[in-house]
Amino acid sequence: MQGLMKERLTQTAISRNLPTKFIGKKVIYHPVLPSTNELAKQSARSGAPEGTIVVADQQTAGRGRLKRLWLSPPGSIALSIILYPDLAHLPYIIMLSSLAVVYTIEQITGLKAQIKWPNDILIDGKKVCGILIETDVQRNKVKYAIVGIGINVNIRMADFPDLGKIATSLSHELGHEVSRLQLLRRLLVEMERLYLNLPAKENLYREWQERLTTLGKKVVVTSGDTRYEGIAESVTAVGSLLLRGSDGSLKEITAGDVTLRTSS
Ligand code: BTN
Repeated sequence: MQGLMKERLTQTAISRNLPTKFIGKKVIYHPVLPSTNELAKQSARSGAPEGTIVVADQQTAGRGRLKRLWLSPPGSIALSIILYPDLAHLPYIIMLSSLAVVYTIEQITGLKAQIKWPNDILIDGKKVCGILIETDVQRNKVKYAIVGIGINVNIRMADFPDLGKIATSLSHELGHEVSRLQLLRRLLVEMERLYLNLPAKENLYREWQERLTTLGKKVVVTSGDTRYEGIAESVTAVGSLLLRGSDGSLKEITAGDVTLRTSS
């Protein structure tokens, strides 16, 4: 669709009549950036107000979890949100960001999305969005938390044949393109709603748990050189995964530098 191809995620387009109190009130937009997370970190260090977002139409050195590269071709959303949460709220940022993406996708496209622990967003088992949260905590105080969200929106999967088995895009699933602007604005609203609701974190935990596709499955978790195998039994209130080994043991795995794959 011609209109959507030309759509740009500029400051004015994003902020105009945006019904939020602080998320997205300040927008740093660049057509192309190495990584929105990197610029967001610099902005946070120089005192950017909470809720400032950094957006790019394209990233040239997008970062994924575990120092992986994240592809952000034109047609995707590359967004970083600067937050200054209380230390006690930090574990919930993973939950609320992934839920905000799931709700946004469902509201805008009608597609059903799931969460692969800890925070990959999948449609029919294929990854449509990745989230990288980078924090700086000093002396029990959160200096900043950068929530980096990459969504495959209008991406022709035929252009990325290597990724077709594991990844998808919203346009691929729908058969037509989606307004990135509409999607992004809804995401900011959902993020703020869940963030401001954080004192009621039990609800957040319950909703996140309900959306986790990982539970009950046989999984392999890799953390550095260590490998654990078992059934993903449940998640704790702070987001760790409880893995039941074949010997009956229960292992708690925190959502740090780990990869998880379903083994059957
Ligand atoms: C992952 O699944 O490995 C996380 C991917 C996170 C990608 C986003 S895109 C916007 C932000 N800027 C980055 O450099 N990375 C995150």
